Amino acid sequence: MMNPTHRLPNKVALITGAASGIGRATALLLAREGAAVVVTDVAAEAGQQVADEIARAGGQARFLPLDVSDEGAWQEVMDQLLREFGRLDVAVNNAGIAAGRPVADMTLTEWRRVLHINLDGVFLGTKFAIRAMQAGQGGSIINVASASGIKASAGASAYCASKAAVRMFSKTAALECVAAGGKVRVNVVSPGGVATPIWEKQDFWPDLVAKHGSPQAAMQALSAEGFFTPEQIAQAILFLASDESSYLNAGELVIDRGYTA
Ligand SMILES: NC(=O)c1ccc[n+]([C@@H]2O[C@H](COP(=O)([O-])OP(=O)(O)OC[C@H]3O[C@@H](n4cnc5c(N)ncnc54)[C@H](O)[C@@H]3O)[C@@H](O)[C@H]2O)c1
Repeated sequence: MMNPTHRLPNKVALITGAASGIGRATALLLAREGAAVVVTDVAAEAGQQVADEIARAGGQARFLPLDVSDEGAWQEVMDQLLREFGRLDVAVNNAGIAAGRPVADMTLTEWRRVLHINLDGVFLGTKFAIRAMQAGQGGSIINVASASGIKASAGASAYCASKAAVRMFSKTAALECVAAGGKVRVNVVSPGGVATPIWEKQDFWPDLVAKHGSPQAAMQALSAEGFFTPEQIAQAILFLASDESSYLNAGELVIDRGYTA
């Protein structure tokens, strides 16, 4: 039944990297706002749990495994999504990894892995979403970059380069959509630090936990540095996904408390 207060009534949304962090918070929020959500991730168990959580709360969700760097997998997911839901209105290209290593010590394999997931993954997601949306009612694509794509950080060259490229790639794709009639919008969200499990995968995490006594205390210490919650970033994504932002294309929401200002 349609709820008149919902901000995404009758919309179908696909989210990548939706098993954790920002993607998970976005999946839960978009579902609460009435969207049918296709939860995708390489982490199948955690992704299925997010879809189950949405269903338990009365929302509509489907988990599909997807490695964003695999073009064949994108084709399969998009075919299945269109078969089951008939349309795609919102695509959130959120999946990403962070890897820290000084340039002089980094292998080409490490460099390529970050670019492959963070940049190739967003390219593929944007490409398949534009095709589906152009063929349908149009839609909104939100690509998650980072303040690290604006301001450099020593030791994070691959990550910073990938996120800077996501920003410029997204604006280029948006211009093509404008030229094609504006049915499809492509906007970017560039957050500063967000308290998510991405930090637990970094080389410095064990030292931080040792210093603060527990993983929770380590995360609190990061948060004390002005980190955002995943739910706050999800709110910005919701705005860009909804028709409330129908006038925004090729834009960017930098959510960083002035870090890059
Ligand atoms: N947390 C931050 O401080 C922060 C700041 C700015 C931008 N971001 C960006 O936000 C996005 C989400 O990050 P997060 O902090 O929620 O991290 P997270 O580690 O909590 O979640 C990332 C998710 O992406 C998935 N993933 C990794 N590789 C994948 C692949 N090849 N295909 C599909 N899914 C894959 C992981 O399984 C995980 O569920 C990333 O693009 C990240 O770069 C994060």
